[in-house]
Amino acid sequence: MIKLIPYAVALLLLATSSIVGKVANAAANPVKGEELFKQCIACHARGDGAEHGVGPTLNHVFGRIAGTAEGYANYSEAMRNKGTADNLLWTEKSLYIFLAGPERYVPGTTMGFKGLRKEQEIKDLLAYLIAFSPAYTPESGQLVAASDAAAATLPVLKSEDEVELPELTEAFLNDDAAITLGGELWAKQCRHCHGSSAYPGKAPKLKPARYKPEFVFDRITDGFRKMPAWKSVFTLEERKALVAYVLSRKFSP
Ligand code: HEC
Ligand code: HEC
Repeated sequence: MIKLIPYAVALLLLATSSIVGKVANAAANPVKGEELFKQCIACHARGDGAEHGVGPTLNHVFGRIAGTAEGYANYSEAMRNKGTADNLLWTEKSLYIFLAGPERYVPGTTMGFKGLRKEQEIKDLLAYLIAFSPAYTPESGQLVAASDAAAATLPVLKSEDEVELPELTEAFLNDDAAITLGGELWAKQCRHCHGSSAYPGKAPKLKPARYKPEFVFDRITDGFRKMPAWKSVFTLEERKALVAYVLSRKFSP
């Protein structure tokens, strides 16, 4: 079964109301976000003089690799691996997905918070939090980052978009039909960069033993640096099949 949750991309960070007027969606509201932050405050500090508490400070969390706040010693192995092994970078999008379901996105996290259920709440909270990451350049690249402008910038999240959180079950990953389909797609679209005969340096040799299925799915779906995104090329089933293939015994780059 596929779980769909509303997915948000901060397309624009708005500094002026004239731009606000052109955007159909309700803007995120940092004032409401501050109110919602009360749910985090027992564990997380932010702002001037913030120190680590039960959780790390959320100053500069946008643009931080997960699990790497300096001086915070209590990260779970799950969170540290998400950062150092899977290169998870906190952005509007990844924070959105995390806050919608921390345990689903980072299985094994010790963050004792079940997540925010409403899209608007996550939007509002992120609009509030982003002000504490003044050096962050949003994924859209459209914000001129400036600390005093940050408070006035509102991420606009597209509610009609949805993020796919695929269930990559053992049964699916071992499904022969999926593995075969994945193998065909690999030969057509991936081998010329990742294959043994690819031009050296074009792409890293994959190390499937190190990967969790969700990581491979994320990379295929959204790309990363020079790795292209395949979301608009392959269907969800095709991307899942690629994961099954890469992680299978049949994988032969
Ligand atoms: C009961 C305590 C608690 C609450 C409530 C809580 N958190 Fe956390 N949070 C943590 C802990 C502990 C971690 C570290 C988790 C780990 O290492 O697995 C964490 C990690 C995080 C991270 C990852 C930070 C990093 O440096 O990688 C973010 C982002 C975050 N929390 C945001 C929030 C937000 C936003 C809220 C409120 C909506 C919230 N948390 C509520 C305890 C909490
Ligand atoms: C145009 C060349 C290119 C193509 C085509 C390509 N990739 Fe990649 N891929 C890359 C590069 C470059 C990276 C390394 C990105 C980085 O970490 O900076 C990468 C990274 C990855 C990673 C993460 C590896 C790691 O250890 O961090 C996975 C998984 C992956 N690719 C799978 C695929 C799959 C599956 C396909 C086919 C659908 C594919 N790639 C097609 C260039 C490519």
